Amino acid sequence: MKTLIVYYSFEGNTRYAARLLAEKLDAETLELEPVKDYPRGKASKFVFGGAAASFSATPELKPYVCQPEKYDLVILGSPVWASRVAPPMNTFLKSIDLRQSRVAAFACCAGGSTERLFAALEKQVGTLTERASFLNPASHQEAAEKEAARFAAALLHA
Ligand SMILES: Cc1cc2nc3c(=O)[nH]c(=O)nc-3n(C[C@H](O)[C@H](O)[C@H](O)COP(=O)(O)O)c2cc1C
Repeated sequence: MKTLIVYYSFEGNTRYAARLLAEKLDAETLELEPVKDYPRGKASKFVFGGAAASFSATPELKPYVCQPEKYDLVILGSPVWASRVAPPMNTFLKSIDLRQSRVAAFACCAGGSTERLFAALEKQVGTLTERASFLNPASHQEAAEKEAARFAAALLHA
């Protein structure tokens, strides 16, 4: 099964989960990178990043090539920002039509719900084949391993 994982990561957790999944699914990865980074201060990141997510911002991304038709499965990964996807994923989804693709998704959070994020994704790409939720996986590695294994097995045996 040819698989592509498209993700954005601000602080490394989503990247960590993407790499775990890439190993398990033998998948290619595409990391989305905004041209202009978000502020990284303890408070400012929530103010600026949270506002950008709330307004469904579509920041400019560094150039990338993505041909979803070449894959059997596309997996989208994003941190939860203000209960939503992080804005770079909005930009990606606007630029690409995934309605003909089989799509799964995972989200990384710090304890909040991932439901709203998945519901918003489904509005854009149709029903998700499978979902995984990670709680700051880079610092909860054992739990992340379990969730990644569950998600990968579900996708491989679906
Ligand atoms: C701007 C911003 C908003 C966030 N909003 C939420 C939230 O609504 N719920 C939650 O559980 N975590 C929230 N978080 C925490 C991240 O989703 C969580 O730490 C995630 O694992 C980070 O992934 P990353 O390291 O790939 O960026 C927020 C973090 C940032 C920077």
